[in-house]
Amino acid sequence: MTETLFSPLTIGKLELPGRIFKTATSETRGSEDGFVTDELLDFYAPIAWAGTPLIITGNLYISVQGKSTYRMCGIDNDDKIPGLTRWTELAHQYGSRIFAQINHCGRQMNPDVIGVKEALAPSAVRDKAMLTKPRAMTLNEIEEVIEDHVAAVVRAQKAGFDGVQIHMAHGYLLSEFLTPQTNRRKDQYGGSLENRMRLPLEVLRAVRKRVGPDYPVIAKLNGADLLLQGKGLDTDELVQVAQALQAEGLDGIEISCGHYESGFPMICGRFDGFLEAQVAEGAGKYLPAPMRMAAKLGAKALAKRANKAWPTREGFNGDFSRQFKAALDIPVICVGGFHTREAMEQAINSGVCDAVSIARAMIADPFLVQHLREGVEGPQCDFCNGCIARAGGSPVDCYNDKLRPARQAMLKEAGFDRM
Ligand SMILES: Cc1cc2nc3c(=O)[nH]c(=O)nc-3n(C[C@H](O)[C@H](O)[C@H](O)COP(=O)(O)O)c2cc1C
Repeated sequence: MTETLFSPLTIGKLELPGRIFKTATSETRGSEDGFVTDELLDFYAPIAWAGTPLIITGNLYISVQGKSTYRMCGIDNDDKIPGLTRWTELAHQYGSRIFAQINHCGRQMNPDVIGVKEALAPSAVRDKAMLTKPRAMTLNEIEEVIEDHVAAVVRAQKAGFDGVQIHMAHGYLLSEFLTPQTNRRKDQYGGSLENRMRLPLEVLRAVRKRVGPDYPVIAKLNGADLLLQGKGLDTDELVQVAQALQAEGLDGIEISCGHYESGFPMICGRFDGFLEAQVAEGAGKYLPAPMRMAAKLGAKALAKRANKAWPTREGFNGDFSRQFKAALDIPVICVGGFHTREAMEQAINSGVCDAVSIARAMIADPFLVQHLREGVEGPQCDFCNGCIARAGGSPVDCYNDKLRPARQAMLKEAGFDRM
């Protein structure tokens, strides 16, 4: 039944030759000042070569203030356009389409690491995962965020991206505006759901006004916030947000879940060694020594709890996604735990989604799309989370000792020796 996965799907006016996408994975492969590098392109070459119908980049910062991690790529200035163009040319060389995921990280950052004075967010509510206390944005700063999104989309267009994905999920800035726990504003941007969705809608409206109706614009949105404490959004409210975005001209929506302070429902999987790797080789290596020490001391207990609370299963956002699919006319993309053809086909054929998107199984097997097309079994991701544990500190890659040798041999044989 490969027809399901390789039947065309239209997003806006763009026809894609299949329904398995590479979702956003932050690369930690940019230069320190956010430019595209050869090392970054090396990661994408095999994924494009395998005929992946749509590649979504890792999140690209729209302004330095919106940058979340070291070696993240930016789309914040015109001087980034030539490097970004190399990226789109690489994808197009192999027939893949590529969307830029654009983002402002809001409070989910460490200002000292990024080199900014402070984090900005809708309200001054401390993030319990990063421990960052942001400052509430002024109305002028909100206006600048809208302009930064528009400028980023214009740069994406100039660099040859086939479309953009606006990040509205995972507790980053636009998601923070949506969520009552993080948005305590008393002005027109806070309070009722209508007010909390005002900024995401204004961003989309301004982007549409600038690029017209034909340029594909999609969003990534939570299917539920799943906060451990405080008032997060449930699926009913988020479906209303999606309907409003659709009315404003959105072309497609990818459904995920969670903020940083939700724990790990956004990824699920196994967490043994997770915090240890995060503080030694991931974004955590830039934290002050006492925080690193505390993380190491608590690592084993956290792994035990997380293994129990967030085990993986294929299509773990499917129950959310199905509700969006029932309420919307635009394509719905479901992310989360996919790695077998059967589960992907089942999700598409049973009304969960129109397409599936994949992060970790494609990091483990960059040829996943070709392997699915040909019925060949490649390296099988076991959701050890070594890749995400190292995000923001080491280049995105598969760090699973059990998979690596065969994976590297497979890539080398196909001529991708630099991976
Ligand atoms: C290494 C890594 C980096 C990620 N970076 C991003 C990102 O930049 N933007 C984003 O929206 N999600 C990011 N995610 C989350 C994924 O897009 C996806 O939602 C999540 O991993 C679940 O999909 P999976 O089960 O196929 O891995 C990242 C995940 C991983 C593993």
